[in-house]
Amino acid sequence: MTDNTFNTVRKTFNVCLPDPSIEQSWTLKAYQENGGYQALERVLREQTPHTDIINTLKTSNLRGRGGAGFPPGIKWSFMPRAAEGQKYVVCNSDEGEPGTCKDRDILRLNPHALIEGMAIGGYVMGASKGYNYIRGEFWEPYERMEAAMKEAYEAGLLGENLFDSGFDFDLYTHLGAGAYICGEETALLESLEGKKGQPRFKPPFPAAFGLYGKPTTINNTESFASVPAILRADGNWMDGEWFKALGVENAGGVKVFSVSGHVERPGNYEIKMGTPFSELLEMAGGVWKGRKLKAVIPGGSSVPVMPADAVMQANMDYDSLRDHGSAVGAGSVIIMDETTDMVKVLERLSYFYHEESCGQCTPCREGTGWLYRILHRINTGKGVSKDLDTLLDVANRIEGRTICALGDAAAWPVQSFLKHYRHEFEAKIVDASGNTSDQSKNKMTADAA
Ligand SMILES: Cc1cc2nc3c(=O)[nH]c(=O)nc-3n(C[C@H](O)[C@H](O)[C@H](O)COP(=O)(O)O)c2cc1C
Ligand code: SF4
Repeated sequence: MTDNTFNTVRKTFNVCLPDPSIEQSWTLKAYQENGGYQALERVLREQTPHTDIINTLKTSNLRGRGGAGFPPGIKWSFMPRAAEGQKYVVCNSDEGEPGTCKDRDILRLNPHALIEGMAIGGYVMGASKGYNYIRGEFWEPYERMEAAMKEAYEAGLLGENLFDSGFDFDLYTHLGAGAYICGEETALLESLEGKKGQPRFKPPFPAAFGLYGKPTTINNTESFASVPAILRADGNWMDGEWFKALGVENAGGVKVFSVSGHVERPGNYEIKMGTPFSELLEMAGGVWKGRKLKAVIPGGSSVPVMPADAVMQANMDYDSLRDHGSAVGAGSVIIMDETTDMVKVLERLSYFYHEESCGQCTPCREGTGWLYRILHRINTGKGVSKDLDTLLDVANRIEGRTICALGDAAAWPVQSFLKHYRHEFEAKIVDASGNTSDQSKNKMTADAA
């Protein structure tokens, strides 16, 4: 894939994604010319107290970019840094959810920001080793990451005794095999250990029992890559207020939103938290072919779908999207125009979750199959009116009853699609039976009697 295809960076505040005008932004030279590695050098030379860095991150209001929005400043403070023995920092570059593609561009275009962020994380948490778990299909990003690490080792930015500080930090990449579940942090750890990628029960959390049973902190690629810029704070060293002020009350800074689907200019947009959705849509050139907006999934396929009127009122931040019925998730904005067949979309999404369930929990293993099969039946004209209630019943019985959040992620789209677009599902069932859904229901009751 070239730089001019889908993942072209369209607009940036230069925190995680480099300015598109920077030539070969992924090289050490380009990164250093733009302030790169200054933060790592300064914290190591000055031996900045780890609590000061944690406090800066807390002040910055950076929220985790992997989906749950948990603040890295707080997560980093959970690590028992004084504990004896090996500790690890692990980066989650698995990025397998439909609609997500921001971490791929960070790896391709700004890998040194991730390396620097992970090394700072290692220093703060007393971890001398880091792993970056990269999705198996990300061959080009993997090669860029490897090349950047080679440059960093040669320049003394990774390895032993960095900046004569006595701090050692080694980094390794690990290519996954393309399983979505390996993005779940404990399944990722299992996979890193060479086992089948299946989520662990929590607690214990990774900070207590992580990789190889040792204290481990896992963050998303964008979370780590944001750290150097937050510490540099545009020249006001360690002033967390700088990043915070770019965003809104409950979510600081800028975030990469990946816009895909029916827009004129799909791509990754690094914009201020709290930017109105309507502005983001405008940056992306609006709905393609002059069509009307029908619906948006604003945070990756796991978050609830929003009808056009709701999303046009919303801003791109955690509170606003929640108040309008959805979530930021991983920031993957899937745009659907007025011609979109919502039954078909949900059938496709359900197939994904059915395929990707790891099979450990019965509600998820069996329930995702039920959801897909019922949706397939409806979409292929064989649905019956009680299918819609069954769908909701199954989704409600999966939600909250599984080891990991994949079960919820399979249930939420079903609930939200039926909430907003039930008439489209009913119409397909009517088409199939030749009756209205009420007629079908009465017929079934009569048959049952
Ligand atoms: C099924 C599933 C898939 C996930 N996939 C990813 C992923 O690809 N990348 C990611 O960063 N987080 C993913 N997560 C969330 C991680 O478990 C974890 O919360 C995240 O990596 C923590 O990073 P953060 O605190 O920086 O957000 C996934 C969670 C689930 C349940
Ligand atoms: S919820 Fe699904 S994916 Fe997660 S552990 Fe259970 S079976 Fe596996």
